[in-house]
Amino acid sequence: MSRATAPSKENCIDGYKYVFNKDLLKDKVAFVTGGGTGIGFTIAEVLMRHGCDTVIASRRLDKLQESAATLEAATGRKCIPVQMDVRDPKKVQQAVGEAMRRFGKINFLINSAAGNFLCPAEGLSFNAFKTVMDIDAMGTFNATKVVFDEYMKNHGGVIINVTATLQVRGQVYQCHAGCAKAAIETMTKHLAVEWGEKGIRLMCVAPGPIADTEGFSRLGGKAIRDDYIKTIPVQRLGKREDIANTVLYCISDAAQLLTGTTVIADGGAWLTSENNLGRIRRIVEMYSKL
Ligand code: COA
Ligand code: NAP
Repeated sequence: MSRATAPSKENCIDGYKYVFNKDLLKDKVAFVTGGGTGIGFTIAEVLMRHGCDTVIASRRLDKLQESAATLEAATGRKCIPVQMDVRDPKKVQQAVGEAMRRFGKINFLINSAAGNFLCPAEGLSFNAFKTVMDIDAMGTFNATKVVFDEYMKNHGGVIINVTATLQVRGQVYQCHAGCAKAAIETMTKHLAVEWGEKGIRLMCVAPGPIADTEGFSRLGGKAIRDDYIKTIPVQRLGKREDIANTVLYCISDAAQLLTGTTVIADGGAWLTSENNLGRIRRIVEMYSKL
């Protein structure tokens, strides 16, 4: 049985089940990089379902506009689409400036933008490695620094960096992305130490394989079979909603003591999944035939 790939148009959750009070984030504002698609989109949705307004920011303005309209219709909250490349500090400054003009505050920053592909280290060009480092690690620093300068330095806030589990064991064919995510997790610790006194908490949320996403599809998701899923302790793939709910908890006041740390949200998959060249070569081979 093959697994679905990322949808072409983003859909909101059918029958969202509230765990927290619906007013948990009433009148707060979140800036979500990569919020037009995938996990970032669903994070924006779940925050909006709890009373938050959002700014979603990435490179493709048409996609962001379409997603913002979908999010507003489903949640009744405001969502502003803003074009920016996280690698370009000037564009990030303009996007954050636009968010401040529209809302006057940014209580939460969610860094979900990233780029990835399966590639053996020996096949990576210098620019391929640099590109992923730039989008993930530099991009996270750029957005974080600008939101700090423009708002959080004087008002506090919570920053969530979406990482992964690749870097925990050194995942096959993922040297570029693992290095980038490891840098983000280290950055998170440094900034948590320096900015705690300003009322800023920073955390990483590390998803495992999440169905119906671009990331999952790029890492061979189409070729994933039920026998792989049976190796995951919770016996299922993650859903975007799982990650969004984890982010919601981490930004809530229930998590006031959590900073500088990573929550792995993968149903235990990193503990049990195979990590050897044979398996990944098989997946790549199967994937190329689908
Ligand atoms: N395998 C190996 N190298 C690859 C590659 C792949 N599948 N895809 C791109 N590259 C290399 C390119 O060849 C290029 O290197 P070169 O100049 O030496 O030839 C370098 O990476 C940059 O590629 P480019 O397409 O110019 O970068 P971009 O900035 O336009 O796009 C990507 C960035 C490559 C990460 C692109 O896939 C992207 O935009 N991804 C966003 C969505 C995504 O990845 N979602 C999953 C998140 S986990
Ligand atoms: P996705 O839908 O492709 O999300 C990535 C987003 O980043 C896109 O919206 C993209 O939008 C944006 N982006 C990429 N490059 C950018 C740039 N240079 N500047 C600004 N925005 C940029 O993939 P996803 O699978 O949901 O991934 C979301 C996050 O979860 C990523 O951090 C990923 O590493 C992490 N993750 C995912 C999985 C999984 O199974 N899916 C597992 C572990 C971790 P534009 O193209 O419009 O720029």
